[in-house]
Amino acid sequence: MSKVIILDFGSQVTQLIARRVREAGVYSEIHPCVITADKVAAMNPDAVILSGGPAGVGETDAPALDRAILDLTVPLLAICYGMQLMAHVLGGVLSQSETREYGPADFDKAADCPLWDGIAPFAEGKASRVWMSHGDKVQTPPPGFIVTGRTATLDVAAMSCDERRMYALQFHPEVHHSVDGTQMLRNFLFKVAKITPDWSMSSFVDRVVKQVRETVGDSHVICALSGGVDSTVVAVLLNKAIGKQLHCIFVDNGVLRMNEGEEVVNMLRGSFNLNLKYVQASDLFLGLLAGVEDPEKKRKIIGHTFIDVFDKEASAIKAEGHDVKFLAQGTLYPDVIESVSYKGPSAVIKSHHNVGGLPEKMNMKLIEPLRELFKDEVRAVGAELGIPESILWRHPFPGPGLAIRVIGEVTKPRLDILRKADVIVMEELRASGFYRKVWQGFAVLLPLKTVGVMGDGRTYEHVIALRIGESVDAMTADWARLPADLLAKISGRIINEVKGVNRVVYDISSKPPSTIEWE
Ligand code: XMP
Repeated sequence: MSKVIILDFGSQVTQLIARRVREAGVYSEIHPCVITADKVAAMNPDAVILSGGPAGVGETDAPALDRAILDLTVPLLAICYGMQLMAHVLGGVLSQSETREYGPADFDKAADCPLWDGIAPFAEGKASRVWMSHGDKVQTPPPGFIVTGRTATLDVAAMSCDERRMYALQFHPEVHHSVDGTQMLRNFLFKVAKITPDWSMSSFVDRVVKQVRETVGDSHVICALSGGVDSTVVAVLLNKAIGKQLHCIFVDNGVLRMNEGEEVVNMLRGSFNLNLKYVQASDLFLGLLAGVEDPEKKRKIIGHTFIDVFDKEASAIKAEGHDVKFLAQGTLYPDVIESVSYKGPSAVIKSHHNVGGLPEKMNMKLIEPLRELFKDEVRAVGAELGIPESILWRHPFPGPGLAIRVIGEVTKPRLDILRKADVIVMEELRASGFYRKVWQGFAVLLPLKTVGVMGDGRTYEHVIALRIGESVDAMTADWARLPADLLAKISGRIINEVKGVNRVVYDISSKPPSTIEWE
């Protein structure tokens, strides 16, 4: 398989480079910039890309590069900080700048370059709109390099050395605002590095099915299903590879959405004939949650109880005589990427792992078939496998479920109120087309009652808060500007249809400083 290695110097958008390369049909991996040339060489890459980064080359602790990487004779593209670092290492001259240039710029071609092939504005003698974010700049390119592009503020906005197949761009071709950036990246991959694009979701499925069969052999695999996209895709993929050697376990913890468990289980059994055990443990979970108000305690109870229940079920499968050696998990690539040490990581590792602690406790090996994929690729694999859209596009749902959306004590009656309100939110988001446009939407039941009036009488009942947010990765989020009519409809329906609720409020806080969930 063709492969591009991206060295991460800490840019916020390094992941975007990997995604653009993959969208072009070429597999790419991100590695910390401290990697040695030997290790890079051992991966046998078809090309190397140096990412941008927040540092200046002369600064203390600025990330460096094993300079032998530049001697690997592999086609190389250096972006932003990567360009400055490469220029510096190869004997070019940098100039420091007090101010950062951040935002759009008009980039003019200064010399022919394979990266400019098919760039429409250049063919007409015009500039291409690019996105800049840098402090320092290259004043004189290293020996052997020519200047291939400039902007009003940069005499060296791009440079190259065709002989060594080294190319550098001061701007960020990977971001959407660089209008011709994708074409430039594609030119690098296909015209310079002459890579054959062979990364597609169907090739991925074939490869993983084969690998899983080899790894698992005659032994058995256990998989925890949550009803979310990742675990569903893992299960269907493994089912394709090893069929009945896969044992899926779905634990109903009593804090799921309305009918969620049944829907997922019926679909997986009906359409995919999955070897699946549905464990109804609502009473156990709700019993342990009784009287508990502290959110972290709720999380811990649910996490530990899940592990206990799951462990018991897994032991039962072993007791039936199956040689269970593996535990399948839906880890994705963003969780795997190692971060660089310069002023904090560029990829923050999420702390909410639903099945954290399981592998250690159960003494099983992990099998993580999605660990190379980004979320959108997981959905594409899911579609390839025939998983319905309603599951592939399901909003993220926390492991502790509705327990952290019933603020305060979690009781069955309070869960029932929340479930009914939640169904209305989901129905209206879907009907209006906003379900796919927002990141996540849900209802929260508040631990207070307020006064209302119904008919001729005074009411004193519950408040539902609506939390509907936009986000790309849940690290930051903003509240969705839903049309007032839609909000009115949701509120009207909840108050009319859900007994016990007489008030609905809309959460208009962003993350940070608020979080997406209320607890
Ligand atoms: P916060 O509330 O931290 O949420 O802004 C960010 C994202 O994580 C989800 N979330 C959780 N997921 N276990 C999970 O599996 C948890 O304990 C948990 N808490 C929050 C939340 O729904 C959002 O998508």
